[in-house]
Amino acid sequence: MSSIVIYFSRAGENWVDGGIRHTDVGNTERAAQIIHDLTGADLFKIEPVVPYPENYDECTAVAKRDQQTNARPEIKSYPKHLDKYDTVYLGYPNYWGTMPMAVFTLLDGCDLSGKVVKPFCTHEGSGLGHSMSDVRKMCPGADVRDGLAIVGSAAGDSVEPIRKWLNK
Ligand SMILES: Cc1cc2nc3c(=O)[nH]c(=O)nc-3n(C[C@H](O)[C@H](O)[C@H](O)COP(=O)(O)O)c2cc1C
Repeated sequence: MSSIVIYFSRAGENWVDGGIRHTDVGNTERAAQIIHDLTGADLFKIEPVVPYPENYDECTAVAKRDQQTNARPEIKSYPKHLDKYDTVYLGYPNYWGTMPMAVFTLLDGCDLSGKVVKPFCTHEGSGLGHSMSDVRKMCPGADVRDGLAIVGSAAGDSVEPIRKWLNK
């Protein structure tokens, strides 16, 4: 059996150390890449049909509206042949205390029951927020393990904490 990293991440403007910075690769994507490098897990990126805005303030507004309306933004595709994986590393940024709603869309459309699900979340201060209880709700029958919170701006330097979490 094998494993897959399913993640959402957004490049563009982000809030780093009290200021707006542009990034070509999102923080969660950096962490996903580290997990791929350490485990050989396949990678699957969740891509909304309508991307979240590159502009930080617009993105926060869209993400908040999505959350308030419990939206399920359409996504471009779903991972294929999920049956061949026994472990899913589920990665997302903390958006207003939990996963972006596009991750809820993905989880609505995937049956992860019987699998080990290991959530990892990048954030700028709120850690995992209430995402763990949301992941558990969205993945009935899955064995959801302890999540890992990674400070987004340090995601690229998080090999050791990620390694430790993987080995738990
Ligand atoms: C729409 C939006 C909402 C956010 N909400 C939170 C939050 O509630 N708590 C927090 O600690 N960080 C929050 N952040 C910061 C992100 O979680 C953090 O920058 C993350 O690493 C971004 O990941 P990405 O580059 O993979 O998209 C938010 C960022 C955005 C764009």
